[in-house]
Amino acid sequence: MLNERMQQAVNEQINAELYSAYLYASMAAFYTSINLPGFANWMRVQVQEEMLHATYMYDFISERGGRVQLMSIAGPPVEWPDPAQPFKDAYAHELEVTRRINELMNLAQELRDHATASFLLWFVNEQVEEEANADKVVKQLHLTGNVGSGLFMVDRELALRVFTPPTVLPAGVGA
Ligand SMILES: [Fe+2]
Ligand SMILES: [Fe+2]
Repeated sequence: MLNERMQQAVNEQINAELYSAYLYASMAAFYTSINLPGFANWMRVQVQEEMLHATYMYDFISERGGRVQLMSIAGPPVEWPDPAQPFKDAYAHELEVTRRINELMNLAQELRDHATASFLLWFVNEQVEEEANADKVVKQLHLTGNVGSGLFMVDRELALRVFTPPTVLPAGVGA
């Protein structure tokens, strides 16, 4: 049985993961509109990852006999001033997600809810990669300085990203 406070907090995180998907989908649309299809591809892969994160939490709540409660998803920004800005925002956003996941873990530990802590550990580890992925592109873009030829090269590289579902799932999910 899932503690009431823990359930509420995981439900709020489902909303945050769905907002992440919304944010990255909006960034993808922005990149499509400025003819950077590789950047758009990277963001669309990220959308799939975020949807999966939300699904894991959704399934976990059900698995623990809790009740999923979906909330309104805020509208993401639509425009950015230059091609580098969405990635800077994505990196900042992932730092915020990490902070939220850590708060969830703190709550699970406070409640001595070991099953939820075990589930959340996957997300703690995932955030290390999420931060690194976004930061890598921010640094590449810093080197190009928004110059056309550099952007074109980065675009070609980001076009190669493919969505690969994780082989190891969070504890308590998909069993
Ligand atoms: Fe996520
Ligand atoms: Fe993320």
